[in-house]
Order: sequence, then C-alpha cells, then structure tokens
Amino acid sequence: MTFSKLVFAPLSYTGWGSLEQLIPELERFEPTKILLVTDPMLEKIGLSDQVAKPVRDAGYEVTLYTDVVPEPPLETGEKLAAFTRGNGFDLVIGVGGGSALDLAKLAAIMATHEGPVADYLNLTGTRKIEHKALPLVLIPTTSGTGSEVTSIAVLSLESSKDVITHDNMIASVAIVDPQLTVSVPPKVTAATGIDALTHAVEAYISINASPATDGLALHAIRLISKSLRTAVKDGGNKQARTDMSHGSYLAGLAFFNAGVAGVHALAYPLGGQFHIPHGDSNAVLLPYVMSYIRKSCPKRMADILEALGGNPSFLSEEEASYKCVDELKRIVEDVGIPSTLSGFDVPESALDSLTADGVKQKRILARSPLPLEESDIRKIYQSAFDGVPVEPAT
Ligand SMILES: [Fe+2]
Repeated sequence: MTFSKLVFAPLSYTGWGSLEQLIPELERFEPTKILLVTDPMLEKIGLSDQVAKPVRDAGYEVTLYTDVVPEPPLETGEKLAAFTRGNGFDLVIGVGGGSALDLAKLAAIMATHEGPVADYLNLTGTRKIEHKALPLVLIPTTSGTGSEVTSIAVLSLESSKDVITHDNMIASVAIVDPQLTVSVPPKVTAATGIDALTHAVEAYISINASPATDGLALHAIRLISKSLRTAVKDGGNKQARTDMSHGSYLAGLAFFNAGVAGVHALAYPLGGQFHIPHGDSNAVLLPYVMSYIRKSCPKRMADILEALGGNPSFLSEEEASYKCVDELKRIVEDVGIPSTLSGFDVPESALDSLTADGVKQKRILARSPLPLEESDIRKIYQSAFDGVPVEPAT
C-alpha cells in the first residue's frame, strides 16, 4: 500500500504565450501596489520588462526590486522583508530563476508577519507562519528549479542553508511560459536542465514516491531527456524549450511531494564550500550517486532507463539499471558539464570536509532507497573525484 497526499499546487498556466494570462489573473486580485521581485541581470537584458510593461500598461503601479543574488543570504531576505512591509504592497510577482522566485515567496509571506525573517527559519526559528501571504504570482525564466510550484524559500547562512516553508507560501498563480527561456545561455540551460532531471529522477526513487508522483516524474524525465540537448545547442528551438519548461514544472510537482534524496544531499556541500552552481553540483554527482544506490532499486532504474529513451525489454533489471547509470552520465557529458569533481577544481583534500557536511543533510538523505552512512558518502565523493562509478562492498 502507498499512502499519498499531494500538496495543492498553484493555479498554473503553461505553454508558449501563457504570459498573456497575467493581466486577467491580476484583475481577480484588484491590486493597488505591486512588488515585482527580479534578478538585476533580467532587468538589464529587458526580460523583466516583458512582464512589468504590460502590467503598467494595464494601469497598475509596479515597483521593481532587484536586490536578488544567487543563493540569497539571510540578510538579503531581511532587507526585502523590511522593504515590502514599509511600502504597503498588496501583491507580489516573482520573475526569474530559483533565487528570485524564492525571494518573492519570502516577500509575500513576510508582508503579513512581524519580526525578523530569522525567527521563521525551519531549523532555528522560534515563530510559526500563521497568516495567509499576499497574493503571489510566480513566473520562471529558467527551466530548472521548479520553485514556481513549491512552498520553499532557501536562504544561505554563514556555512549552511536553511529554509522558510509553509503551505501558505504556495503561489496563487504560476505562469510557466517557455518563451521567457529562449535567451537563457547554453551553460545555464544545461545546468538548470540537469537540476530538473535530477528532481524527477530523485522523486521517482524516493522512498516517499507514490503513483501520482511517479506519473509526474516519469513524464518529466521523458520530456527533459528528449529535449535538453537541443535546448542547449539551439536555444531558439520552440519545441525543445516548451518540453523543458513542462518537464521542469512536472519535476517540481514530483519532488515537492516525494522529495529529493542523495544527489541533492551531497550537492549542497559543493555549493556551500566551492560555490559550484546548484545545477552543476547535481550534474557532477548524479551518475555516481545513482550507481551507488542502483542495487537498492533496480526496477525503478529500469523504468528511468525507458523514460530516458532506452529500451530495457531484452535486459534483466540488473543490466537495465547499469545502462540507466550510463545514460545519465552520457546526458551530463553531452550538455558539456564536467563529469568529475576535479573538473570543477575541487581538490582531493576536500573530500573529508564535503563528507562531514554531506552527512548533516539527514532530512534529505532519509529519502534515499539505500541508507547512506558517512563511509558511503565518502566513497561516492571519491568516485566522483576519480570519475569512476562505484558500488557498495557486499
Ligand atoms: Fe534542485
């Protein structure tokens, strides 16, 4: 028996041109003062204006907030909360990648709560979220994080990360328009695309997977594996960008409900200690973690192989699971991401400290189908350094 309770999702518009639903949706909320949280780079290249202009043309007052940095620190969140409370906004729009969307969620919830953001952190906070957030519209401009459908805002602390999360932080509306992703450069398309693929793969092998998340995850893997290479090579390809956009959205819904596991747990220390972007951190570990846990879920690995476009029909589950690891390694290499830790200038001497931080990700590691202890994590980092997938000693 599987128990599942899908968390509710935002009202979602997906597909090419779906941004045109923004104004009709805003009309429902009758806002008087809108805060638009976006990345400064998107303002520079005019992408955030593709959202702001029609909103202003429709007669709404819009204030742009661009103090958004990748992996935003707590102080960035505190500043944004103060700005939002001080200006009487009554609706928030987030436009951008994961950081901008996470900060938009934070602005919307902190506008209706008192006290420092730090008081609401998941691990160390002393206060609870108890009020509704401001109406919130999230519009991703990358195909990767799935942040538009989750209730999580990630904040960086001095040497770790924490989150603020609550069902009240789920957006009122998500608009997932692939047209907004065509100018994403190949490197970012590759890294964010592998992040989305990892969400789907980890949701599928999670011990919290359910028939509902399985359907979301497998279709996401199909769409992403079919179109990621093309989206990296030819950013203007409408079909590839549409598949990636839908794949990332479905993967977001899958992992929000089933969770991610070992790849993300071991990727966080790479971000924390070496500032390797989140998607790249996942990409460089994906084949090695999956090789290590392969024997704990061979049937699921065979299913993933099929969704990746392989044919497991004439293979045993054991053979198919091997091939699945090969296929995952191939897609990472095909999109130009280094396939070893040394390719990211991580020295072998760092593997112990990475392991020490990886072990701390207990909540995420708990979803792995194979329990991963400290010695296992050390072996996986070593294999990612050497570029040779390994398995646990039997
Ligand atoms: Fe991720």
